[in-house]
Amino acid sequence: MPEESRSPLLVIGLGPVGLVTAAGFADLGFPVVGVDIDEDKVRTIREGRSPYHEPGLEPLIAKNIASGNLQVDTRADPWIPRAEVIFICVGTPPRPDTGEADTSAVEAVVDLVIQHHQGYTLLVEKSTVPVETARHIEERLQRANHDHIELASNPEFLREGAAVHDFFHPDRIVIGVRSPRAERILRDLYQKIDAPIVVADIETAEIIKYAANTFLATKISFINMVADLCEKTGADVDRVAEGIGLDKRISPYFLRAGIGFGGSCFPKDLKAFLHTGRRYGLDFGLVEAVIRINENRIAVFLDHLRQVLGGDLRDREIALLGLSFKPDTDDIREAPSLKLIPRLLEAGARLRLHDPVAMPHVQKLFPPGPALRYAGSVEEAVAGADAIALVTEWQEYRNMDLDRIKTLLRRPILVDGRNVFDPEEMKRRGFIYYPMGKGRWIPQGF
Ligand SMILES: NC(=O)c1ccc[n+]([C@@H]2O[C@H](COP(=O)([O-])OP(=O)(O)OC[C@H]3O[C@@H](n4cnc5c(N)ncnc54)[C@H](O)[C@@H]3O)[C@@H](O)[C@H]2O)c1
Repeated sequence: MPEESRSPLLVIGLGPVGLVTAAGFADLGFPVVGVDIDEDKVRTIREGRSPYHEPGLEPLIAKNIASGNLQVDTRADPWIPRAEVIFICVGTPPRPDTGEADTSAVEAVVDLVIQHHQGYTLLVEKSTVPVETARHIEERLQRANHDHIELASNPEFLREGAAVHDFFHPDRIVIGVRSPRAERILRDLYQKIDAPIVVADIETAEIIKYAANTFLATKISFINMVADLCEKTGADVDRVAEGIGLDKRISPYFLRAGIGFGGSCFPKDLKAFLHTGRRYGLDFGLVEAVIRINENRIAVFLDHLRQVLGGDLRDREIALLGLSFKPDTDDIREAPSLKLIPRLLEAGARLRLHDPVAMPHVQKLFPPGPALRYAGSVEEAVAGADAIALVTEWQEYRNMDLDRIKTLLRRPILVDGRNVFDPEEMKRRGFIYYPMGKGRWIPQGF
């Protein structure tokens, strides 16, 4: 089929998920139109640039904008009648009161598609939505006799910071469909991707996404629970993780003890999954415990800081390194740093904040002031500080010249929320080093 006659793939919502999906499919050779209501984002993308710090994304956008395979627009309605496949990639944030997923942006897209579609349209949920979202949409479509619109689910598993890699090399592709036609369309789209495809009904696909994130988060909270026991008993959580992770049934991944998980997915998806379980009258107490353990990590980390700084944080100068929720992204949604900053300020500490890319976003939430400075470099952040609080394990911090850093600090204290360094080596270098879940290394006498 000649390129011109193929209907464009429409991707609605150009957050990290939608933009990677749009640019990825364009790179696979499909004509793609990406739509977002945010004019600034659309302008940036149209210029061949990425609105997010995401490795490999900008070149992918630039290449496919230049080739014409990727177009972007602020309006979906002109494109909906021409699109056979529409991916919904808008946000599904938690409702502040209940934690339930707010699917109003998804509903708004459905409304628009109902209004403007012509002929058969496959509407694919890529946004993370609670089980039975598609069923409710289908009931609406049936009531209004819109039987040309078919629903499907194709949940996204990409990791920010590795999103482009994950688009082209996913562990698996999950397709939730009701008909062979929908299955064929989605299989054709992913034909060039070498990954197992799990085909299921839509409800199963919707649950897979929440179950995957909840399971991963459970591993993190599990090892953090064990970390606290290690700390009390002089044991080493990283060796425990190694010892259990070599069991193939467990695997070593997501067994890193630390300050806990953040980001735009785990915290909100767990709350939404918990809400779903409760709605069906089920015992989802496990999910509740995972959330509770994670929320308590901030208190554990603050406790470590207090311990090494003589019990009181008042007037202590703390260099807080790492503001994004994880390395290689400028996403600060639910980042541990955002919880730490106000609590440290309340405790009377003075902060110097540093992050390789996320500082502009944090500055909007916490403007600089007498007790809060943003440092242009790690050296500037640590010079004269009483302690380093390492919160995000950026490579730049892993590679720090520790001997030089030590000479800049007022006191050679490093409280590590990510267990980046080897305690033995830190001791040899003369640091007072406080990692997570390594009881033997609890600094004494401060
Ligand atoms: N970010 C991740 O790492 C990740 C990974 C897997 C799945 N998900 C899921 O994918 C979905 C999208 O995530 P995200 O982080 O990209 O979201 P996001 O909130 O960062 O971006 C959503 C985008 O949709 C746009 N938008 C909202 N309403 C719109 C409308 N009616 N028309 C056009 N654009 C509209 C917004 O302007 C925004 O740019 C969520 O459900 C999320 O849970 C996210």
